[in-house]
Amino acid sequence: MQSLEITVIGAGYVGLSTAIALAMANHRVHVFERNLERLQALQNQCIPFAEPLLEIALQAVQDRIFFTANLAKALESSSMVMLAVGTPPTPAQGVDLSQVFDAVHQLAPYLNQTPRVIVLKSTVPVGTSEEITATLKNLAPNAVFSVSSNPEFLRQGRALRDAVFPDRIVLGTSQTWALEQLEMLYAPIIEGKIQVPPELEPFRPTQPIPVLRVSNASAELAKYAANAFLAMKISFINEIANVCDATSADVDEIVSVLALDKRIGSDFLQAGLGYGGSCFPKDTRALNQLASKSGYEFRLLRAVIEVNSQQRFKALERLERVLNGFRGKRIAVLGLSFKPDTDDLRESIGLELSLELLARGASVVAHDPMLEQMNVKSIPTNTNLEMCLTDADAAILVTEWLEYKNADWTELGKVMKQRIILDGRNALPKNTLLEAGFSYLAIGRNL
Ligand code: UGA
Repeated sequence: MQSLEITVIGAGYVGLSTAIALAMANHRVHVFERNLERLQALQNQCIPFAEPLLEIALQAVQDRIFFTANLAKALESSSMVMLAVGTPPTPAQGVDLSQVFDAVHQLAPYLNQTPRVIVLKSTVPVGTSEEITATLKNLAPNAVFSVSSNPEFLRQGRALRDAVFPDRIVLGTSQTWALEQLEMLYAPIIEGKIQVPPELEPFRPTQPIPVLRVSNASAELAKYAANAFLAMKISFINEIANVCDATSADVDEIVSVLALDKRIGSDFLQAGLGYGGSCFPKDTRALNQLASKSGYEFRLLRAVIEVNSQQRFKALERLERVLNGFRGKRIAVLGLSFKPDTDDLRESIGLELSLELLARGASVVAHDPMLEQMNVKSIPTNTNLEMCLTDADAAILVTEWLEYKNADWTELGKVMKQRIILDGRNALPKNTLLEAGFSYLAIGRNL
């Protein structure tokens, strides 16, 4: 299989996981990163954020991956340039594309008669690849290039696995030569001819990875559609859980019934405090705005967003009733990262609930297994779980870290002032907690 020389702009979790996966696929990858602290870490083979297996994988591809802040050098012999910069939310619920267009402006002077495929990995609104094409035509009128949309579907916490064994690969382009290059790039991944760390072997697919060849616009929208659909499943099951709490049904039993219907499936039906993180909240709002701006009111998506923003407070209010108000009560908040196995605090429900508890008069102590990497200043924290729970009137589990699931709750209960726990992810061992004398509140479990 042919090895390509490519450049990836941006070493965030998408850019870096993709770059490492492509180096594992035997390509030579130049990663351009302008943040010098991050760059230095990478040059020393350190991953600058928490993401399982990336460091081991990086060590294994050392001879094929190069980190630099020199764009000219990074582009020297690359036939493909991947844009994997951040597209954060704007205060007006839109998408900030400034990093994408900064990269495009930086790139333009280096484009010339050598044909280059510019691959858009960042999540962007429909029409962005067209806008990039127009911008580059203007900045580099004689350059030969093609802009393709190639969205990623990586999950934080298992980014490498999703990058090397994706469910599908989406190639959005209207130009045959660009498509051929992209197919060459992904060939080792599509055909499963890639060496992976032993931890990932059990997940190796037995069939080639499906490739979808679509238009740029469809590729751009497909990414939002995928995230919006998953977010909808979460809000849906949270609504069912709320109906369970209002009646006498149990959401786990409902899910066991739903999951056996192949049309529904079992994934993303974990009821809880709702979704957080850098993707679902931002992408659902962006799609909602994109639809409105295009003259269409996406009512279902608006409901998904609204359900999600209220779900965490519904649970909090239940606890408030049980405690007879939060004023003067000490509450331990367990989990600040938006999901386990990451130190990412973007749209952290743990942080939001902690601030809300403080506003309602409680004293709060928050814990997270990755607290030391997080630099949390806005709320009181403690790196020791037992100390965090000491004298607490109640605990709220916000993120289902293994450390909480496996904790000795019988012993931990002894240090609490009142044994009350709100399991915001339905993840704790219910029977052990009940046996240890806890008042156990959960989501949709009628408890
Ligand atoms: C999500 C998508 O799952 C990826 O496919 C996508 O590529 C990525 O966004 C992205 O756009 O970059 P991620 O945000 O890393 O990935 O994490 P998820 O595992 O999807 O979880 C997101 C949130 O949903 C978490 O807060 C999680 O606790 C919550 N969730 C997830 C639930 O509340 N219930 C569930 O059943 C599943």
